[in-house]
Amino acid sequence: MRIKQIETAGMWTCPEIVEMLDRYIIGQNDAKKAVSIALRNRWRRMQLPEDIRGEVVPNNIILIGPTGVGKTEIARRLSQMADLPFLKVEATKFTEKGYVGRDVDSMVRDLLENSISLVRRRAEERVQEDIDQSVEDRLVEILFPPLTGLDEDPDRKARWVRSQEKIRTQLKEKVLEDREVSIQAEQSSMPIANIFSSAGEEFDASFGESIKGLFPKKKTTKKVTVAKARRILHESESEARLDMDQILTQAIELVENGGIIFLDEIDKIAGGGGGSGPDVSREGVQRDLLPIVEGSAVSTKHGPVKTDHILFIAAGAFHMSKPSDMIPELQGRFPIRVELTSLTEEDFLCILRDTEGSLTKQYEALLKVDGCTLNFTLDALEELARLTAELNKRMENIGARRLQTVLAQLLDELLFNVPVTLQGTVNIDREFVQERLTDIIQDQDLSRYIL
Ligand SMILES: Nc1ncnc2c1ncn2[C@@H]1O[C@H](COP(=O)(O)OP(=O)(O)OP(=O)(O)O)[C@@H](O)[C@H]1O
Ligand SMILES: [Mg+2]
Repeated sequence: MRIKQIETAGMWTCPEIVEMLDRYIIGQNDAKKAVSIALRNRWRRMQLPEDIRGEVVPNNIILIGPTGVGKTEIARRLSQMADLPFLKVEATKFTEKGYVGRDVDSMVRDLLENSISLVRRRAEERVQEDIDQSVEDRLVEILFPPLTGLDEDPDRKARWVRSQEKIRTQLKEKVLEDREVSIQAEQSSMPIANIFSSAGEEFDASFGESIKGLFPKKKTTKKVTVAKARRILHESESEARLDMDQILTQAIELVENGGIIFLDEIDKIAGGGGGSGPDVSREGVQRDLLPIVEGSAVSTKHGPVKTDHILFIAAGAFHMSKPSDMIPELQGRFPIRVELTSLTEEDFLCILRDTEGSLTKQYEALLKVDGCTLNFTLDALEELARLTAELNKRMENIGARRLQTVLAQLLDELLFNVPVTLQGTVNIDREFVQERLTDIIQDQDLSRYIL
């Protein structure tokens, strides 16, 4: 079977992808451009005839830049919009094969699981109405079981039908959610997770799944609320309608052709730490990564997954090490290098003022819950940006993360007092900012601890 087309995200043009990222991330245009091209190329490749498609290998990317400038944030936003199997992992999570811990193959297995959920969700969407209808029918039947002998008495039947319709309406309006009903549910006779987690080792969920089938399932009658029954019935109705074999085949194909793995903190396995620490195993992890990035078949419980066309985007601060400290074979597999730049005072202002879901908007929303309206004036935001840049210069440069500590400090009192001793509208202007922060900032020792 072939993938004819990938829906949505793949269809976006590069400028559209960049525009989406622009809503959350300020600056870093080179990085945005690089990832947008990579994403669009995923889709372009999938439109190709099979023979040439096989030839086109992805151009893996490394994002390099200091801490707190948006590397992980780009990945996070990309994953929300990609609509392709996407996995974000920290390279430091892995240990060399043969040692205790997670080996790198697990990332391909995890990516496949993401792909299965994605394909399953799309399949479910197609039969959603069907499922909802059956769930409702079954709930009606449980709440209002059919009677025998109604056909002989038309009056009684008419009354019964009316009552049944009433129940159906109440179900739709969700007024019966807390009522208890008995339903039949399948239950595995062994609580798998318990057996293994008590063994003290990391419980591998996929292993649990695969041996679940070995234990007999028994049907039990359970008393649950309507809300819970709805979920249980939804699960079984959707299972009955979905062709899991087909979903698995499609999910594997989608992973092999459209999968994206974001390898964060790659610099931490790059050596260059002056010979101390677990350098040997870091290099081991790099060596283990090679075949996956290069292209090999990783076995999963659903069958082998070929990694030749999975796209890798790596990111790292490379403070202590350089990309050239990675083993040469691995460096060669990441042909595209993009640098992210340190953030400036203007950037901080834009982050506070213009990004969707910015810290200021978050605090506004939080305090709104308590009936307090926060009003940040422009000169307050400018002052915050200036102080943030100054602190980054004077102490460690932690990029936009500094905004979090600065704002937390600024609003600490307010967050405590609302709504008890403080209500209504609070204007946050330049004076407010200076009053709350200048002393702390001028006291070098104090700011080192607090900000
Ligand atoms: N350019 C930016 N625009 C908007 N917000 C940003 C930007 N850079 C960082 N942030 C914010 O700062 C925080 C930290 O950013 P992020 O996690 O991307 O850092 P990073 O570059 O991955 O750093 P590290 O190397 O330490 O992992 C996030 O909350 C993010 O929203
Ligand atoms: Mg990061």
